[in-house]
Amino acid sequence: MTDNPKINRLHKLRSQSRVGGGEKRIEAQHGKGRLTARERIDLLMDKGSFRETDAFVEHRTHDFHLDKQKYLGDSVVTGWGTIEGRLMYVFSQDFTVFGGSLGEVHSEKICKIMDMALKNGAPVIGLNDSGGARIQEGVVSLGAYADIFLRNTLASGVIPQISAIMGPCAGGAVYSPALTDFIFMVRNSSYMFVTGPDVVKTVTHEEIDFESLGGASVHSETSGVCHLAADTEADTLYLIRKLMSYLPQNNMEDPSFVQSNDDNLRMDDLLNTIVPDDPSKPYNIKDVIQMVVDIGTFYEIHEAYAQNIITGFARLGGHSIGIVANQPAVLAGVLDINSADKAGRFVRFCDSFNIPILTLVDVPGFLPGTTQEHGGIIRHGAKLLYAYCEATVPKLTVITRKAYGGAYDVMSSKHIRGDVNLAWPTAELAVMGPEGAVSIIFRKELEDAEDPFARKAELVKEYRDKFANPYVASARGYIDDVIEPSETRPRLINALEMLSNKRDSNPAKKHGNIPL
Ligand code: HXC
Repeated sequence: MTDNPKINRLHKLRSQSRVGGGEKRIEAQHGKGRLTARERIDLLMDKGSFRETDAFVEHRTHDFHLDKQKYLGDSVVTGWGTIEGRLMYVFSQDFTVFGGSLGEVHSEKICKIMDMALKNGAPVIGLNDSGGARIQEGVVSLGAYADIFLRNTLASGVIPQISAIMGPCAGGAVYSPALTDFIFMVRNSSYMFVTGPDVVKTVTHEEIDFESLGGASVHSETSGVCHLAADTEADTLYLIRKLMSYLPQNNMEDPSFVQSNDDNLRMDDLLNTIVPDDPSKPYNIKDVIQMVVDIGTFYEIHEAYAQNIITGFARLGGHSIGIVANQPAVLAGVLDINSADKAGRFVRFCDSFNIPILTLVDVPGFLPGTTQEHGGIIRHGAKLLYAYCEATVPKLTVITRKAYGGAYDVMSSKHIRGDVNLAWPTAELAVMGPEGAVSIIFRKELEDAEDPFARKAELVKEYRDKFANPYVASARGYIDDVIEPSETRPRLINALEMLSNKRDSNPAKKHGNIPL
């Protein structure tokens, strides 16, 4: 307290605004094992860096006696601060005020910081904990949501937008996150659904609980809506801080360089033996990634979803890169609908934000079958192809083993503007695997053969000797060099530095028409 009544009034209002919906509701929030909107901001941002905006805003609704229930700041805390010293804008929905529901002024607060973020070229991080549209405000709250959706869309590809789902998010509360670049969830404590279990029961007569309908495991393993899940709120916020270190502030900047403790010339002999002699035997491409990138820097995105392809960020010689890698240990690394969607979106993110892409290729082709064909693998596979074709960031490709069929073209091949395409001596580049190829092109001969099995084995060997190597492609310049696996790291760092001033562009257009 001071002697100055005006300053005392300010202090009083500020403390009033800090308690949101009141101590009882804060206790209830803690009782559910959840933090408050402000506690989350404190964990997310650098200590003492947060500057709040609109702490004294109040809603303007009179219907349903809402004029008798006003809370300073309404149901969202907004402002800016820093993460590792870099400017970030943040909003954190306050579940203690009308369940974090979104009405007119809640939306105005978010839009204000989004507009600032866009003008000043800094990321926006949204901490979501909301019952959706504020029911008492009716269509006004629908319009209020649309104001945010528009901004999410206009900001897409200009500034990184990150969403964390920290509690139950229903209705409109899931669509703004869905428009952003990465969604984080807290296991067993956060939920996302367009309509909750009660509505589901009324409409489809299905009985389902929150977790099974829209919990973190559903969205990180099955739907792919969630990119990263963690066990606690604190871990989730820590993961966001970590992610930001790989990203630039906006699309006009390069990601920051972080001096590596790792030796740029480090060669790992284990790489020379990691690919099994038997082409049908799997190995874990994550081991390759770990051995090649700066030690301890691999940050996986979508780890539990479409595990036949790996996506994530890492550093190479201190430079931030995005990695896309077929995973031979899951479904033999085949491309299917989900993996194409997962990798396509990741490639587009990297390209939007000037993050070079490293592609590790070991792919037997697209997954055959009616489920895939009827599900539109043609359209989904085309998304990944489109994403790689349009990407103008530095593109490095290493073929470790199979690069078969259309999947060879798709996975950042030379023909679609791969900048440096390398292959290991174990690489096999062909229209299809030897067994399938021989069965088709020698069908007649095999039918007529005295001993079809022996003849087939001979033909397979012949085909393998001719095509299952990197030298036919190298002879045509489709591969820039065949390298010893152990020299992959120094070769990639050298290539990345060689490409550091790369400039490439696409024809002027309003926007392309990616096959959605
Ligand atoms: C106004 C709401 C609210 C809402 C919750 N509250 N949701 N107030 N509008 N949408 C209030 C409650 O009245 C309560 O107020 C407080 O928030 C906490 O809610 P509880 O139900 O007690 O909490 P809990 O049991 O944890 O359940 C949380 C919940 C549930 C799952 C989110 O509240 C719920 O189902 N809410 C409705 C979800 C929904 O259908 N929203 C509309 C979607 S339509 P008091 O005063 O008691 O603290 C939509 C359309 C937008 O969003 C479309 C745009 C594309």
